Amino acid sequence: MLSKYNVITLFPNLIEEWLATGIISKAYKNNLYEISITNLRDYGLGEYKQVDDAPYGGGPGMVLMAEPLDNAITSNKSDINVFLTPSGNQLDESLISELHTHQSANLICGRYEGFDQRIIDLHSDYQISIGKTVVSGGEIPALFTLEALIRKIPGALGNSESLLTESFTDGKYDHPVYTRPEKYKELSVPSVLLSGNHQKIIDWKKNNLKDI
Ligand SMILES: C[S@@+](CC[C@H](N)C(=O)[O-])C[C@H]1O[C@@H](n2cnc3c(N)ncnc32)[C@H](O)[C@@H]1O
Repeated sequence: MLSKYNVITLFPNLIEEWLATGIISKAYKNNLYEISITNLRDYGLGEYKQVDDAPYGGGPGMVLMAEPLDNAITSNKSDINVFLTPSGNQLDESLISELHTHQSANLICGRYEGFDQRIIDLHSDYQISIGKTVVSGGEIPALFTLEALIRKIPGALGNSESLLTESFTDGKYDHPVYTRPEKYKELSVPSVLLSGNHQKIIDWKKNNLKDI
C-alpha cells in the first residue's frame, strides 16, 4: 500500500492547509500514512535560490530548472517519482490501484510553463494528469491524487462501506442520495426510500446507478 508520501513544491503552505482538514488529518493522526513536504526553494541555485529560468528557443513564461529538482528528488529517495503534468496519464481508479502497489512516492509539482523535460527523462516513473484542462500549478493535482490514494487506505474512511458503493466501483456512478426533509420546494424523496422495505431499497439503489 502506498502510504509514505513526499510532496516537492514551491508552495508548501498549500499542502499544509490541506493536511489539517477532514479525513486526511484524522488518518494522519491515526498514523495511517506518513507525509513530508520538500520546499523546492531550499534546493534553489545561488544567492537568490533560483529554481526557474527562461525557455530555450524563446516563448512566454519560465521553466523549472532541472538541477534544483534533481537535487530535491535525489535527496528524498522514494520507490516512485510521480510528476503532475497536463500531458500525463489521466488519473482513474485503475491508476490509483497501480500506485498502491508501491510503498513510497515523491509527488512533484510543476509551476509556470512546467518542468525542464530532462528532469522527467531522468526521474519519471509516472506522469499524471487530473483532467484535460490546465491549472497554474501541480499542488492541486497532487492533493487530488493524494486524497484519492489516502481514502483507499483501510481505516481512513469512517465508514469503509462507502468505498464499496461509491462512483466508479463496478463501472457505474453512484445512485442519487437524499436527506431530510422529505419534501423540499415541491420535490419529494422517492417513496421507496421511506418505505422501510430493505430489499426494495437495495433494488432501487442498484437500478439507479448511472452508466459512465
Ligand atoms: C501552467 S501549468 C504548465 C502548462 C504547460 N505549459 C502546458 O501547456 O502543458 C504548470 C504546472 O501545473 C501542473 N498542472 C497543470 N494542469 C495540470 C493537470 N491537468 N494535471 C496535472 N498537473 C497539472 C503541472 O505540474 C504543470 O507543470
